[in-house]
Amino acid sequence: MDQDFAERVALVTGAASGIGLAIARHLADRGAHVVGVDVSEGVRDAVAGLAGGRHHAIVADLTDRGSPAAVVDEAVAVAGGLHVLVNSAGIVRLAPALELSADAWDATIAVNLTATFRMSQAAGRVLVAAGYGRIVTLASQASVIGLDEHVAYCASKAGLLGMTRVLSLEWAGSGVTVNAVSPTVVETPLGKEAWAGERGEAMKRLIPVGRFAQPEEVASLVAYLASDVAGMITGENVLIDGGYASV
Ligand SMILES: NC(=O)c1ccc[n+]([C@@H]2O[C@H](COP(=O)([O-])OP(=O)(O)OC[C@H]3O[C@@H](n4cnc5c(N)ncnc54)[C@H](O)[C@@H]3O)[C@@H](O)[C@H]2O)c1
Repeated sequence: MDQDFAERVALVTGAASGIGLAIARHLADRGAHVVGVDVSEGVRDAVAGLAGGRHHAIVADLTDRGSPAAVVDEAVAVAGGLHVLVNSAGIVRLAPALELSADAWDATIAVNLTATFRMSQAAGRVLVAAGYGRIVTLASQASVIGLDEHVAYCASKAGLLGMTRVLSLEWAGSGVTVNAVSPTVVETPLGKEAWAGERGEAMKRLIPVGRFAQPEEVASLVAYLASDVAGMITGENVLIDGGYASV
């Protein structure tokens, strides 16, 4: 089976909710030992609900400077190794660029970009040393297009593409692939917050397939990139946007 994670340990950030939770479920259903991380205590119940019994939850704010390294250390200690990192933790703070607060900018960059880099760096140290690894980061269609009131979000997601390219270049020779996945609006708590009401309906009309994405559709793509057979794909940003940014 292409997506057999029976011998794999997968660390998933943002695992309490939305896309991260869907990814944790998808990987657990295919045999992975999942370590789910989230700032929300809800990650404990989320991980307890995964198929198979050997998963582990970590409650951590990944914007704390030392947190990503501590999370990776804990994951390796409890699971005996690490093979996959999925960076799904993220936030959105909407405001016109002229009005966006300094705090909203800082928080967005801290979670979406800085914490994701620190997680990738900490995991990368383990994966490069082991000679095998898969890192998949949730960027967004916002990484390649502008969206009104999304200036901090778009900047953070575009930054992830630069990070992905450099890490993929530096780690390809060590068996570690690094890719990004860029969905259009996904029907999760975050997606519903940013695209409620008429704004969302107008967006749907611009998406050629005529609907938003479901978390499970994104999870399936992430799992492919996280699997053994995807070893020839690295440094890529894969759009899953119903044709929105591509046509
Ligand atoms: N939903 C969408 O429409 C959409 C579209 C494109 C990309 N994305 C991206 O996909 C990822 C997941 O989004 P989602 O829709 O599942 O959102 P979500 O809000 O449902 O889940 C995000 C999770 O990240 C966690 N988190 C936030 N800050 C954290 C921190 N400092 N430390 C640890 N965990 C933290 C939250 O507690 C939450 O459980 C995000 O990176 C988001 O930008 C989402």
